[in-house]
Amino acid sequence: MALPEEIQKAQKIPTAFVIFGATGDLSRKKIFPSFFELFKAGLLSENFKIVAAARSKFSNQDFRQTIKERVKIQDTGAWEKFAELVSYVSCDVAENANLDLINKRLEEYEKEIGQCTQRIFYMAISPYIYANSFENLGKHQMHLGCKAHGVPAKIVIEKPFGHNLESAQKLTGILNKYFTQKQIFRIDHYLGKETVQNIFAFRFGNEIFEPVWNKDFIDHVQITLAEPEGIERRGEYYDKAGALRDIVQNHLLQLVAIATMDAPQRFDQEAIRAKKLAIVKNIIKMKPDEVAKATVRAQYEGYLNEEKVAKDSQAETFAALKLHIDTPRWQNVPFYLRTGKMLTGKVSSIIFSFKEKGHKIFENFWDKPMPNHVILQIQPQEGIGIRLVAKKPGLSTSLEPVDMEFCYKTSFDVAQPDAYERLLIDIIVGDQTLFLGQVEESWKFIDPIEEVWAKGKPKLETYKPGSWGPEAANELIEKDGRMWLAPLLTICKI
Ligand code: BG6
Repeated sequence: MALPEEIQKAQKIPTAFVIFGATGDLSRKKIFPSFFELFKAGLLSENFKIVAAARSKFSNQDFRQTIKERVKIQDTGAWEKFAELVSYVSCDVAENANLDLINKRLEEYEKEIGQCTQRIFYMAISPYIYANSFENLGKHQMHLGCKAHGVPAKIVIEKPFGHNLESAQKLTGILNKYFTQKQIFRIDHYLGKETVQNIFAFRFGNEIFEPVWNKDFIDHVQITLAEPEGIERRGEYYDKAGALRDIVQNHLLQLVAIATMDAPQRFDQEAIRAKKLAIVKNIIKMKPDEVAKATVRAQYEGYLNEEKVAKDSQAETFAALKLHIDTPRWQNVPFYLRTGKMLTGKVSSIIFSFKEKGHKIFENFWDKPMPNHVILQIQPQEGIGIRLVAKKPGLSTSLEPVDMEFCYKTSFDVAQPDAYERLLIDIIVGDQTLFLGQVEESWKFIDPIEEVWAKGKPKLETYKPGSWGPEAANELIEKDGRMWLAPLLTICKI
Protein backbone atom coordinates (compact mmCIF):
# COMPACT_ATOMS: atom_id res chain seq x y z
CA MET A 1 0.00 0.00 0.00
CA ALA A 2 2.30 2.65 -1.28
CA LEU A 3 2.33 5.93 0.63
CA PRO A 4 2.22 9.27 -1.24
CA GLU A 5 5.99 9.70 -0.95
CA GLU A 6 6.52 6.18 -2.27
CA ILE A 7 4.39 6.96 -5.29
CA GLN A 8 6.67 9.89 -5.95
CA LYS A 9 9.56 7.50 -5.58
CA ALA A 10 8.02 5.25 -8.26
CA GLN A 11 8.24 8.15 -10.68
CA LYS A 12 11.99 8.21 -10.27
CA ILE A 13 12.90 4.52 -10.54
CA PRO A 14 14.04 3.53 -14.04
CA THR A 15 11.98 0.44 -14.75
CA ALA A 16 11.63 -2.19 -17.47
CA PHE A 17 8.59 -4.47 -17.24
CA VAL A 18 8.67 -7.67 -19.25
CA ILE A 19 5.17 -9.07 -19.60
CA PHE A 20 5.12 -12.75 -20.50
CA GLY A 21 1.72 -13.75 -21.84
CA ALA A 22 1.26 -10.29 -23.34
CA THR A 23 -1.39 -11.44 -25.79
CA GLY A 24 -3.56 -13.13 -23.14
CA ASP A 25 -6.80 -11.92 -21.60
CA LEU A 26 -5.27 -10.65 -18.39
CA SER A 27 -2.72 -8.53 -20.21
CA ARG A 28 -5.23 -7.06 -22.63
CA LYS A 29 -7.98 -6.45 -20.08
CA LYS A 30 -6.06 -5.43 -17.00
CA ILE A 31 -2.30 -4.99 -17.24
CA PHE A 32 -1.96 -2.76 -20.30
CA PRO A 33 -5.01 -0.58 -19.52
CA SER A 34 -3.66 -0.10 -15.97
CA PHE A 35 -0.23 0.91 -17.23
CA PHE A 36 -1.85 3.36 -19.60
CA GLU A 37 -3.84 4.94 -16.73
CA LEU A 38 -0.67 5.22 -14.63
CA PHE A 39 1.11 6.78 -17.59
CA LYS A 40 -1.64 9.36 -18.12
CA ALA A 41 -1.53 10.21 -14.42
CA GLY A 42 2.22 10.84 -14.73
CA LEU A 43 3.05 8.08 -12.26
CA LEU A 44 5.58 6.17 -14.33
CA SER A 45 9.24 7.00 -14.46
CA GLU A 46 10.50 8.95 -17.44
CA ASN A 47 12.78 5.98 -17.97
CA PHE A 48 10.14 3.33 -18.37
CA LYS A 49 9.83 0.52 -20.87
CA ILE A 50 7.46 -2.39 -21.42
CA VAL A 51 8.65 -5.44 -23.30
CA ALA A 52 5.61 -7.46 -24.31
CA ALA A 53 6.46 -11.12 -24.79
CA ALA A 54 4.37 -13.98 -26.16
CA ARG A 55 4.59 -16.83 -28.66
CA SER A 56 2.72 -15.22 -31.58
CA LYS A 57 4.58 -13.13 -34.10
CA PHE A 58 3.81 -9.42 -34.14
CA SER A 59 5.59 -6.31 -35.23
CA ASN A 60 5.75 -3.60 -32.55
CA GLN A 61 3.20 -1.64 -34.51
CA ASP A 62 0.72 -4.49 -34.86
CA PHE A 63 1.02 -5.45 -31.23
CA ARG A 64 0.39 -1.89 -30.07
CA GLN A 65 -2.74 -1.90 -32.20
CA THR A 66 -4.09 -4.94 -30.29
CA ILE A 67 -3.85 -3.11 -26.98
CA LYS A 68 -5.12 0.18 -28.35
CA GLU A 69 -8.52 -1.47 -28.71
CA ARG A 70 -8.68 -2.14 -24.95
CA VAL A 71 -7.58 1.16 -23.42
CA LYS A 72 -9.52 4.35 -22.76
CA ILE A 73 -8.17 6.92 -25.18
CA GLN A 74 -9.34 10.46 -24.67
CA ASP A 75 -6.18 12.01 -25.97
CA THR A 76 -4.45 10.40 -28.92
CA GLY A 77 -1.25 12.26 -28.09
CA ALA A 78 -1.01 10.43 -24.76
CA TRP A 79 -1.70 7.11 -26.43
CA GLU A 80 1.01 7.65 -29.03
CA LYS A 81 3.58 8.51 -26.37
CA PHE A 82 2.57 5.49 -24.32
CA ALA A 83 2.66 3.18 -27.34
CA GLU A 84 6.29 4.23 -27.91
CA LEU A 85 7.17 2.67 -24.56
CA VAL A 86 5.91 -0.75 -25.63
CA SER A 87 7.90 -3.10 -27.80
CA TYR A 88 7.18 -6.72 -28.66
CA VAL A 89 9.36 -9.85 -28.59
CA SER A 90 8.21 -13.22 -29.84
CA CYS A 91 9.48 -15.91 -27.47
CA ASP A 92 8.34 -18.90 -25.45
CA VAL A 93 9.31 -18.71 -21.81
CA ALA A 94 8.04 -22.21 -20.97
CA GLU A 95 9.86 -23.82 -23.90
CA ASN A 96 12.99 -21.76 -23.45
CA ALA A 97 12.81 -20.24 -26.93
CA ASN A 98 14.31 -16.85 -27.70
CA LEU A 99 14.71 -15.62 -24.13
CA ASP A 100 18.07 -14.17 -25.12
CA LEU A 101 16.16 -11.67 -27.22
CA ILE A 102 14.58 -10.32 -24.04
CA ASN A 103 17.92 -9.90 -22.30
CA LYS A 104 19.26 -8.22 -25.40
CA ARG A 105 16.31 -5.84 -25.61
CA LEU A 106 16.74 -4.90 -21.93
CA GLU A 107 20.47 -4.33 -22.30
CA GLU A 108 19.91 -2.14 -25.35
CA TYR A 109 17.42 -0.06 -23.44
CA GLU A 110 19.70 0.34 -20.44
CA LYS A 111 22.51 1.36 -22.75
CA GLU A 112 20.26 3.90 -24.42
CA ILE A 113 19.33 5.57 -21.10
CA GLY A 114 22.84 5.11 -19.72
CA GLN A 115 21.78 3.39 -16.49
CA CYS A 116 20.44 0.19 -15.00
CA THR A 117 16.72 -0.37 -14.73
CA GLN A 118 14.93 -2.48 -12.22
CA ARG A 119 13.80 -5.37 -14.38
CA ILE A 120 10.40 -6.81 -13.51
CA PHE A 121 9.14 -10.06 -15.02
CA TYR A 122 5.37 -10.32 -14.98
CA MET A 123 4.26 -13.92 -15.49
CA ALA A 124 0.80 -13.39 -17.01
CA ILE A 125 0.91 -16.93 -18.35
CA SER A 126 -0.97 -20.12 -17.61
CA PRO A 127 -0.14 -21.33 -14.09
CA TYR A 128 0.40 -24.78 -15.60
CA ILE A 129 3.64 -23.64 -17.21
CA TYR A 130 5.08 -21.76 -14.24
CA ALA A 131 7.60 -24.42 -13.22
CA ASN A 132 9.39 -24.57 -16.58
CA SER A 133 9.15 -20.85 -17.01
CA PHE A 134 10.78 -20.08 -13.64
CA GLU A 135 13.58 -22.51 -14.45
CA ASN A 136 14.13 -20.90 -17.84
CA LEU A 137 14.37 -17.43 -16.32
CA GLY A 138 17.03 -18.89 -14.03
CA LYS A 139 18.90 -20.54 -16.91
CA HIS A 140 19.18 -17.19 -18.62
CA GLN A 141 20.20 -15.50 -15.36
CA MET A 142 17.27 -13.17 -15.68
CA HIS A 143 16.71 -13.17 -11.91
CA LEU A 144 20.00 -11.33 -11.49
CA GLY A 145 18.50 -8.28 -13.16
CA CYS A 146 20.80 -5.53 -14.26
CA LYS A 147 24.10 -7.12 -13.29
CA ALA A 148 26.29 -4.10 -13.90
CA HIS A 149 24.94 -2.36 -10.80
CA GLY A 150 23.58 -5.34 -8.90
CA VAL A 151 19.92 -4.33 -9.17
CA PRO A 152 18.14 -7.70 -8.75
CA ALA A 153 15.04 -8.43 -10.82
CA LYS A 154 11.53 -8.82 -9.43
CA ILE A 155 9.07 -11.48 -10.46
CA VAL A 156 5.29 -11.06 -10.44
CA ILE A 157 3.15 -14.18 -10.35
CA GLU A 158 -0.57 -14.49 -10.83
CA LYS A 159 -2.79 -16.88 -8.95
CA PRO A 160 -3.44 -19.75 -8.59
CA PHE A 161 0.05 -20.52 -7.32
CA GLY A 162 0.10 -24.26 -7.87
CA HIS A 163 -2.67 -26.76 -8.28
CA ASN A 164 -2.45 -28.28 -4.82
CA LEU A 165 -0.10 -28.25 -1.84
CA GLU A 166 2.51 -30.44 -3.49
CA SER A 167 2.74 -28.39 -6.67
CA ALA A 168 2.76 -25.11 -4.70
CA GLN A 169 5.68 -26.39 -2.63
CA LYS A 170 7.48 -27.47 -5.76
CA LEU A 171 7.01 -24.04 -7.33
CA THR A 172 8.22 -22.35 -4.17
CA GLY A 173 11.30 -24.58 -4.29
CA ILE A 174 12.10 -23.53 -7.85
CA LEU A 175 11.46 -19.85 -7.18
CA ASN A 176 13.65 -19.91 -4.08
CA LYS A 177 16.58 -21.18 -6.14
CA TYR A 178 16.66 -17.89 -7.98
CA PHE A 179 14.65 -15.24 -6.15
CA THR A 180 14.61 -14.01 -2.56
CA GLN A 181 11.30 -13.21 -0.82
CA LYS A 182 11.83 -9.52 -1.47
CA GLN A 183 11.92 -10.17 -5.20
CA ILE A 184 8.70 -12.21 -5.36
CA PHE A 185 5.29 -10.57 -5.79
CA ARG A 186 2.38 -13.04 -5.76
CA ILE A 187 -0.71 -11.25 -6.94
CA ASP A 188 -4.22 -11.64 -5.63
CA HIS A 189 -5.88 -8.67 -7.28
CA TYR A 190 -8.70 -8.67 -4.70
CA LEU A 191 -6.19 -7.29 -2.24
CA GLY A 192 -5.78 -4.25 -4.49
CA LYS A 193 -9.46 -3.34 -4.34
CA GLU A 194 -10.37 -0.21 -2.42
CA THR A 195 -13.02 -1.76 -0.16
CA VAL A 196 -10.79 -4.67 0.70
CA GLN A 197 -8.12 -2.27 1.92
CA ASN A 198 -10.73 -0.17 3.60
CA ILE A 199 -11.56 -3.16 5.78
CA PHE A 200 -8.32 -2.35 7.64
CA ALA A 201 -9.41 1.24 8.16
CA PHE A 202 -12.96 0.23 9.07
CA ARG A 203 -11.87 -2.34 11.62
CA PHE A 204 -8.73 -0.85 13.08
CA GLY A 205 -9.26 2.88 12.51
CA ASN A 206 -12.63 2.99 14.28
CA GLU A 207 -13.14 2.15 17.92
CA ILE A 208 -16.70 0.93 17.72
CA PHE A 209 -16.41 -2.31 15.73
CA GLU A 210 -13.51 -4.29 17.22
CA PRO A 211 -15.21 -4.93 20.58
CA VAL A 212 -18.11 -6.71 18.84
CA TRP A 213 -16.07 -8.43 16.11
CA ASN A 214 -16.15 -11.87 17.64
CA LYS A 215 -18.16 -14.99 18.45
CA ASP A 216 -20.08 -13.32 21.27
CA PHE A 217 -21.79 -10.89 18.92
CA ILE A 218 -21.53 -12.37 15.45
CA ASP A 219 -23.88 -15.15 14.46
CA HIS A 220 -22.30 -15.96 11.13
CA VAL A 221 -20.42 -14.48 8.19
CA GLN A 222 -21.20 -14.92 4.53
CA ILE A 223 -19.11 -14.09 1.50
CA THR A 224 -20.40 -14.07 -2.04
CA LEU A 225 -18.47 -13.52 -5.25
CA ALA A 226 -20.99 -13.83 -8.06
CA GLU A 227 -20.33 -13.10 -11.72
CA PRO A 228 -22.76 -12.89 -14.62
CA GLU A 229 -20.10 -13.81 -17.18
CA GLY A 230 -19.21 -17.36 -18.14
CA ILE A 231 -15.66 -18.56 -18.56
CA GLU A 232 -15.20 -16.53 -21.77
CA ARG A 233 -12.03 -17.48 -23.69
CA ARG A 234 -10.40 -19.19 -20.71
CA GLY A 235 -11.61 -22.78 -21.15
CA GLU A 236 -8.13 -24.25 -21.30
CA TYR A 237 -7.19 -22.85 -17.89
CA TYR A 238 -10.58 -22.91 -16.23
CA ASP A 239 -11.46 -26.49 -17.06
CA LYS A 240 -8.45 -27.67 -15.06
CA ALA A 241 -8.91 -25.16 -12.26
CA GLY A 242 -12.64 -24.87 -11.49
CA ALA A 243 -14.18 -22.33 -9.12
CA LEU A 244 -12.58 -23.71 -5.95
CA ARG A 245 -9.05 -23.13 -7.23
CA ASP A 246 -9.86 -20.06 -9.31
CA ILE A 247 -11.65 -18.07 -6.61
CA VAL A 248 -12.03 -19.79 -3.24
CA GLN A 249 -8.40 -20.80 -2.65
CA ASN A 250 -7.22 -17.24 -3.15
CA HIS A 251 -9.75 -14.37 -3.28
CA LEU A 252 -12.28 -15.79 -0.83
CA LEU A 253 -9.81 -17.11 1.71
CA GLN A 254 -7.98 -13.78 1.59
CA LEU A 255 -11.25 -11.97 2.25
CA VAL A 256 -11.92 -14.31 5.18
CA ALA A 257 -8.44 -13.57 6.54
CA ILE A 258 -8.63 -9.78 6.23
CA ALA A 259 -12.11 -9.58 7.66
CA THR A 260 -11.30 -11.72 10.70
CA MET A 261 -7.60 -11.29 11.51
CA ASP A 262 -6.45 -9.84 14.81
CA ALA A 263 -5.09 -6.29 14.78
CA PRO A 264 -1.50 -6.22 13.55
CA GLN A 265 0.94 -4.47 15.86
CA ARG A 266 2.04 -2.17 13.08
CA PHE A 267 0.62 -1.29 9.70
CA ASP A 268 3.37 -3.00 7.78
CA GLN A 269 3.74 -5.97 5.49
CA GLU A 270 5.27 -8.47 7.92
CA ALA A 271 2.79 -7.75 10.70
CA ILE A 272 -0.25 -7.91 8.41
CA ARG A 273 0.88 -11.06 6.63
CA ALA A 274 1.55 -12.82 9.94
CA LYS A 275 -1.95 -12.06 11.25
CA LYS A 276 -3.59 -13.15 8.01
CA LEU A 277 -1.59 -16.34 7.97
CA ALA A 278 -2.69 -17.11 11.52
CA ILE A 279 -6.30 -17.15 10.27
CA VAL A 280 -5.72 -19.28 7.18
CA LYS A 281 -3.70 -21.76 9.23
CA ASN A 282 -6.57 -22.12 11.67
CA ILE A 283 -9.35 -22.76 9.18
CA ILE A 284 -10.50 -26.23 10.15
CA LYS A 285 -9.66 -28.83 7.48
CA MET A 286 -12.66 -30.91 6.48
CA LYS A 287 -12.85 -34.68 6.90
CA PRO A 288 -14.18 -36.58 3.86
CA ASP A 289 -17.69 -37.06 5.28
CA GLU A 290 -17.85 -33.33 6.14
CA VAL A 291 -16.93 -32.42 2.56
CA ALA A 292 -19.99 -34.26 1.33
CA LYS A 293 -22.18 -32.33 3.78
CA ALA A 294 -20.58 -28.88 3.93
CA THR A 295 -19.74 -28.20 0.28
CA VAL A 296 -21.66 -27.79 -2.96
CA ARG A 297 -20.25 -27.94 -6.48
CA ALA A 298 -22.13 -27.21 -9.64
CA GLN A 299 -21.72 -26.44 -13.33
CA TYR A 300 -23.82 -24.08 -15.43
CA GLU A 301 -25.92 -25.58 -18.18
CA GLY A 302 -24.11 -25.15 -21.47
CA TYR A 303 -20.62 -25.19 -19.93
CA LEU A 304 -19.73 -28.36 -21.84
CA ASN A 305 -20.18 -26.47 -25.12
CA GLU A 306 -17.64 -23.82 -24.15
CA GLU A 307 -14.41 -23.62 -26.14
CA LYS A 308 -11.54 -25.86 -24.95
CA VAL A 309 -13.60 -27.63 -22.31
CA ALA A 310 -13.62 -31.45 -22.09
CA LYS A 311 -16.89 -32.92 -23.34
CA ASP A 312 -17.37 -34.83 -20.08
CA SER A 313 -15.85 -32.15 -17.86
CA GLN A 314 -16.61 -32.31 -14.15
CA ALA A 315 -15.16 -28.84 -13.51
CA GLU A 316 -17.32 -26.77 -11.17
CA THR A 317 -18.26 -23.24 -12.19
CA PHE A 318 -20.00 -22.74 -8.85
CA ALA A 319 -18.78 -23.63 -5.38
CA ALA A 320 -20.28 -23.08 -1.96
CA LEU A 321 -19.03 -24.22 1.42
CA LYS A 322 -19.24 -23.74 5.14
CA LEU A 323 -16.07 -23.39 7.20
CA HIS A 324 -14.99 -22.67 10.76
CA ILE A 325 -11.95 -20.92 12.17
CA ASP A 326 -10.38 -22.48 15.21
CA THR A 327 -9.32 -19.37 17.14
CA PRO A 328 -10.76 -18.12 20.43
CA ARG A 329 -12.32 -15.14 18.65
CA TRP A 330 -14.19 -17.17 16.03
CA GLN A 331 -14.99 -20.42 17.85
CA ASN A 332 -18.18 -21.98 16.39
CA VAL A 333 -19.00 -19.05 14.09
CA PRO A 334 -19.93 -20.48 10.68
CA PHE A 335 -18.55 -18.83 7.54
CA TYR A 336 -20.57 -19.48 4.36
CA LEU A 337 -18.72 -18.88 1.10
CA ARG A 338 -20.07 -19.07 -2.44
CA THR A 339 -18.88 -18.12 -5.87
CA GLY A 340 -20.06 -18.82 -9.36
CA LYS A 341 -20.01 -17.89 -13.02
CA MET A 342 -23.10 -17.12 -15.12
CA LEU A 343 -25.11 -15.99 -12.13
CA THR A 344 -27.75 -13.28 -12.06
CA GLY A 345 -25.46 -10.35 -11.35
CA LYS A 346 -22.09 -9.05 -10.28
CA VAL A 347 -22.07 -9.13 -6.50
CA SER A 348 -19.08 -9.43 -4.19
CA SER A 349 -19.62 -8.80 -0.53
CA ILE A 350 -18.80 -9.90 2.96
CA ILE A 351 -21.73 -9.78 5.34
CA PHE A 352 -21.31 -10.03 9.10
CA SER A 353 -24.62 -11.05 10.57
CA PHE A 354 -25.01 -10.24 14.25
CA LYS A 355 -26.68 -12.32 16.91
CA GLU A 356 -30.09 -11.21 17.85
CA LYS A 357 -30.15 -11.02 21.58
CA GLY A 358 -33.80 -10.06 21.77
CA HIS A 359 -34.60 -6.46 22.55
CA LYS A 360 -36.92 -7.23 25.40
CA ILE A 361 -38.69 -3.88 25.57
CA PHE A 362 -39.80 -4.21 21.98
CA GLU A 363 -40.90 -7.80 22.32
CA ASN A 364 -44.48 -7.09 21.49
CA PHE A 365 -43.55 -5.38 18.28
CA TRP A 366 -41.40 -8.02 16.68
CA ASP A 367 -43.12 -10.21 14.19
CA LYS A 368 -39.90 -11.34 12.55
CA PRO A 369 -36.23 -11.33 13.55
CA MET A 370 -34.30 -8.24 12.47
CA PRO A 371 -30.62 -8.79 13.25
CA ASN A 372 -27.95 -6.17 12.55
CA HIS A 373 -25.66 -6.75 9.61
CA VAL A 374 -22.44 -5.13 8.51
CA ILE A 375 -22.04 -5.26 4.75
CA LEU A 376 -18.58 -4.84 3.24
CA GLN A 377 -19.41 -4.52 -0.43
CA ILE A 378 -16.94 -4.73 -3.30
CA GLN A 379 -19.37 -5.09 -6.21
CA PRO A 380 -21.53 -3.73 -7.80
CA GLN A 381 -20.54 -0.49 -6.03
CA GLU A 382 -17.85 -0.28 -3.38
CA GLY A 383 -19.12 0.70 0.04
CA ILE A 384 -19.85 -0.28 3.61
CA GLY A 385 -23.32 -0.55 5.09
CA ILE A 386 -24.87 -1.25 8.43
CA ARG A 387 -28.36 -2.64 8.72
CA LEU A 388 -30.13 -1.24 11.72
CA VAL A 389 -33.60 -1.31 13.11
CA ALA A 390 -35.52 1.97 13.30
CA LYS A 391 -38.97 3.04 14.35
CA LYS A 392 -41.20 3.51 11.37
CA PRO A 393 -42.68 7.02 11.39
CA GLY A 394 -46.29 7.02 12.55
CA LEU A 395 -48.50 6.98 15.59
CA SER A 396 -47.89 3.34 16.39
CA THR A 397 -44.53 1.82 17.34
CA SER A 398 -43.44 -0.49 14.64
CA LEU A 399 -39.85 -1.41 13.81
CA GLU A 400 -38.37 -1.65 10.33
CA PRO A 401 -34.87 -2.48 9.08
CA VAL A 402 -33.01 0.45 7.50
CA ASP A 403 -29.53 0.79 6.00
CA MET A 404 -26.85 3.28 6.88
CA GLU A 405 -24.37 3.38 4.06
CA PHE A 406 -21.02 4.79 3.13
CA CYS A 407 -20.52 4.69 -0.65
CA TYR A 408 -17.20 5.55 -2.22
CA LYS A 409 -18.89 7.19 -5.15
CA THR A 410 -20.77 9.74 -3.09
CA SER A 411 -18.39 10.22 -0.15
CA PHE A 412 -15.22 10.82 -2.13
CA ASP A 413 -15.06 12.87 -5.24
CA VAL A 414 -11.99 11.14 -6.61
CA ALA A 415 -11.61 8.50 -9.26
CA GLN A 416 -10.86 5.06 -7.89
CA PRO A 417 -7.86 3.37 -9.42
CA ASP A 418 -8.27 -0.17 -10.68
CA ALA A 419 -6.81 -2.77 -8.32
CA TYR A 420 -4.07 -3.49 -10.86
CA GLU A 421 -2.94 0.14 -10.98
CA ARG A 422 -2.32 0.11 -7.26
CA LEU A 423 -0.58 -3.26 -7.36
CA LEU A 424 1.70 -2.20 -10.22
CA ILE A 425 2.84 0.86 -8.27
CA ASP A 426 3.44 -1.29 -5.19
CA ILE A 427 5.57 -3.65 -7.26
CA ILE A 428 7.63 -0.76 -8.60
CA VAL A 429 8.30 0.64 -5.12
CA GLY A 430 8.69 -2.82 -3.59
CA ASP A 431 5.81 -2.76 -1.09
CA GLN A 432 4.58 -6.33 -0.55
CA THR A 433 1.70 -5.65 1.88
CA LEU A 434 -0.99 -6.40 -0.69
CA PHE A 435 0.71 -9.50 -2.07
CA LEU A 436 0.36 -13.06 -0.95
CA GLY A 437 2.92 -14.47 1.43
CA GLN A 438 2.72 -18.19 2.02
CA VAL A 439 0.05 -19.86 -0.07
CA GLU A 440 0.69 -23.39 1.18
CA GLU A 441 -1.70 -23.03 4.12
CA SER A 442 -4.67 -22.32 1.89
CA TRP A 443 -3.94 -25.44 -0.17
CA LYS A 444 -4.02 -27.48 3.03
CA PHE A 445 -7.65 -26.46 3.37
CA ILE A 446 -8.51 -26.86 -0.33
CA ASP A 447 -6.79 -30.19 -1.07
CA PRO A 448 -9.00 -32.41 1.13
CA ILE A 449 -12.08 -30.92 -0.56
CA GLU A 450 -10.68 -31.47 -4.05
CA GLU A 451 -9.84 -35.07 -3.16
CA VAL A 452 -13.40 -35.90 -2.17
CA TRP A 453 -14.85 -33.97 -5.11
CA ALA A 454 -12.62 -35.98 -7.45
CA LYS A 455 -14.42 -39.09 -6.15
CA GLY A 456 -17.74 -37.58 -7.17
CA LYS A 457 -18.96 -36.47 -3.73
CA PRO A 458 -21.12 -34.50 -3.35
CA LYS A 459 -22.55 -34.93 -6.82
CA LEU A 460 -21.93 -32.22 -9.39
CA GLU A 461 -25.14 -30.19 -9.61
CA THR A 462 -26.19 -28.11 -12.58
CA TYR A 463 -27.77 -24.67 -12.64
CA LYS A 464 -29.35 -22.38 -15.14
CA PRO A 465 -27.33 -19.44 -16.46
CA GLY A 466 -28.80 -16.26 -14.99
CA SER A 467 -29.90 -17.97 -11.77
CA TRP A 468 -28.33 -17.74 -8.30
CA GLY A 469 -26.85 -21.22 -8.61
CA PRO A 470 -28.13 -24.65 -7.61
CA GLU A 471 -30.79 -25.26 -4.99
CA ALA A 472 -28.22 -27.26 -3.02
CA ALA A 473 -26.41 -23.97 -2.21
CA ASN A 474 -29.58 -22.63 -0.58
CA GLU A 475 -30.02 -25.87 1.31
CA LEU A 476 -26.45 -25.63 2.62
CA ILE A 477 -27.29 -22.47 4.55
CA GLU A 478 -31.01 -22.97 5.08
CA LYS A 479 -30.51 -26.22 6.93
CA ASP A 480 -28.81 -24.10 9.61
CA GLY A 481 -31.81 -21.78 9.76
CA ARG A 482 -30.09 -18.98 7.81
CA MET A 483 -30.28 -17.65 4.28
CA TRP A 484 -28.03 -16.00 1.68
CA LEU A 485 -28.35 -12.27 2.14
CA ALA A 486 -26.71 -11.04 -1.05
CA PRO A 487 -28.13 -9.61 -3.27
CA LEU A 488 -30.94 -8.79 -0.84
CA LEU A 489 -28.60 -6.67 1.22
CA THR A 490 -27.07 -4.66 -1.57
CA ILE A 491 -26.08 -1.12 -0.67
CA CYS A 492 -25.12 2.01 -2.65
CA LYS A 493 -27.69 1.39 -5.36
CA ILE A 494 -27.00 4.52 -7.36
C1 BG6 B 1 -9.94 -13.75 -11.37
C2 BG6 B 1 -10.52 -15.06 -11.80
O1 BG6 B 1 -8.92 -13.96 -10.45
O2 BG6 B 1 -10.95 -12.95 -10.77
C3 BG6 B 1 -11.67 -14.83 -12.75
O3 BG6 B 1 -9.53 -15.85 -12.42
C4 BG6 B 1 -12.69 -13.88 -12.18
O4 BG6 B 1 -12.31 -16.07 -13.11
C5 BG6 B 1 -12.01 -12.63 -11.64
O5 BG6 B 1 -13.60 -13.53 -13.20
C6 BG6 B 1 -13.00 -11.76 -10.87
O6 BG6 B 1 -12.39 -10.54 -10.57
P1 BG6 B 1 -13.24 -9.19 -10.49
O7 BG6 B 1 -12.24 -8.16 -10.11
O8 BG6 B 1 -13.84 -8.97 -11.83
O9 BG6 B 1 -14.27 -9.43 -9.44
